[in-house]
Amino acid sequence: MSFLKTVESYRQGARTLPGRYYTAPEVFAEEQERIFARHWICIGRDATLATPGDYFVVQIAGESIIVLRDQSGERRAYYNVCRHRGTRLCEAPTGHLSETIQCPYHAWTYALDGRLIGAPHMNEVEGFEKKSYPLHTVALAEWAGFLFVNLATTNACIARRFTQSSRPSSLTPAARTT
Ligand code: FES
Repeated sequence: MSFLKTVESYRQGARTLPGRYYTAPEVFAEEQERIFARHWICIGRDATLATPGDYFVVQIAGESIIVLRDQSGERRAYYNVCRHRGTRLCEAPTGHLSETIQCPYHAWTYALDGRLIGAPHMNEVEGFEKKSYPLHTVALAEWAGFLFVNLATTNACIARRFTQSSRPSSLTPAARTT
């Protein structure tokens, strides 16, 4: 992938897209399905997550995603959905978590690394194991201080999306996707 300045991409006689490409619901739906649900999408700056517990929520292709820095300093992304009955975990668009995420419905509690660590009354359920219900991870990567998520892969490496010349030495997966 190469990056062009606006003056380098200008073509004499070029026109903007017809208006419906900006307003038609069916075009928007196709963009959601073919672009936002399948590719690496830039969601913001890494510096937004300055300290452990900082988080923000983004909407990608109809999904709500929590992006946070955990207690070890690692950046992580999860579907904003409780593993019990699917309740939205974080309603505020940004904020600071203590050391856990607690569901407002029945108080299932997750560590910032996604592990389920509290599930009231579930110890009475035969065969229930907390380790079987971590938050669902979203692939997250950092490039040049920008954070990207990808709903279609569990591979956090975005190196192949960039040319060697544009790749900074800091290109790293931001989270393991297990
Ligand atoms: S839906 Fe989250 S604890 Fe029940």
